[in-house]
Amino acid sequence: MTFDLKRVVRPNILTLEPYRCARDDFKTGVLLDANENTHGPALSELSLAEQELELNRYPDPHQAELKKQIVDFRNAKPNKFLKETDAKLEIGNLCLGVGSDESIDMLLRCVCVPGKDKMLICPPTYGMYTICATVNDVVIAKVPLTTPDFQIDFEAVTKKLEEDPSVKLIYLTSPGNPTAKLISPSEVVRLLEYANEKSWNGLVVIDEAYIDFTESTETKTSKSVSTLVTKYPQLVVLQTLSKSFGLAGIRLGITFCSKELSYYLNSMKYPYNISSLTSNVAIRATDESTGLQKMSSYVEKIIEQRGILLKQLLALPGVGKNIGGLDSNFILIEILDKDNKPSNEVAFALYNELAVNNEVVVRFRGKEQNCTGALRISIGTEEENKILVQKFAKCLEQVRNKV
Ligand SMILES: Cc1ncc(COP(=O)(O)O)c(C=O)c1O
Repeated sequence: MTFDLKRVVRPNILTLEPYRCARDDFKTGVLLDANENTHGPALSELSLAEQELELNRYPDPHQAELKKQIVDFRNAKPNKFLKETDAKLEIGNLCLGVGSDESIDMLLRCVCVPGKDKMLICPPTYGMYTICATVNDVVIAKVPLTTPDFQIDFEAVTKKLEEDPSVKLIYLTSPGNPTAKLISPSEVVRLLEYANEKSWNGLVVIDEAYIDFTESTETKTSKSVSTLVTKYPQLVVLQTLSKSFGLAGIRLGITFCSKELSYYLNSMKYPYNISSLTSNVAIRATDESTGLQKMSSYVEKIIEQRGILLKQLLALPGVGKNIGGLDSNFILIEILDKDNKPSNEVAFALYNELAVNNEVVVRFRGKEQNCTGALRISIGTEEENKILVQKFAKCLEQVRNKV
């Protein structure tokens, strides 16, 4: 038996046809088809750029130009598990959403029957999976990542799938949040080969929000598994412009998947979910000659600063090890008490002291699985990192003497 997506997608979704508007067929002339205000936006002043965006008109539901730039960008550096003869990404493999958060929710609604199906997560991981599953009345199954290397526990995951046929989605974050650790692409491929061999009725979702920070942008291949969706129909990859592209404010998430699944996701989505302002900025940011170069230069700076910051923090008394990896735009470090044991009490007091009295905000993550005493710190600019280190050293000494 081969994998059949129709047995995974919910029956009500299988019947959907994408929303069609008159403008899919006719784009020019006197446009009186969409009940827009043809006088223009209710703004007293509009810049030339804003005028060109025609903000009184509904945005393009298909976003072909943006999708083309995204697939060209990812196709330029295929994953090493993609053979020359394997198909390349096309725009039909994409669905765009309001940040990856919308993509996460959409996948749940596409495959999980509320009150019946389950979603498997591997803690420690990103909190939105549980929130979205709970909203959708989907039960969460948990198989923790291995320690200390934060990889897939292949035996435990496959055992769970064999025991519980109601698991329809596996969510993995790679690089992980809060672990900052890439899930080895060969282990992802191993899981996909297993799913294929068993004709498992579900999807493996890899959330690659931080993938561009894994290695220098100068490498010829990429650790991203996004290019593998043409090869493995059970693979779904999520990416976002919120991190490496520095565009968290525009809310643009990308789902890479088989064309068949993309058809259902695009049929489900609100037709105008990507605003004209968002797509205009996203098209500029993913343009090869301008935006992509800027993104690369930021990534290089962040990677450089990541090494410097980690070295400086690890040298401080009271900082233990780097708990996670070096694959993201943040690090996860361990805070120790006076007996040099990882301590949530000291870590939380430090977090609090930094935020309340020193205007430096990091994230306490000590309650996450296998992360006792952890603080998660985003890599800032050189200037910001200097301030962080100086205040961190002062506050850590202070709280360790108190707690
Ligand atoms: C693993 C992971 N996925 C997704 C997101 C959210 O991405 P977006 O801003 O595209 O909704 C985050 C944000 O922190 C994240 O850590």
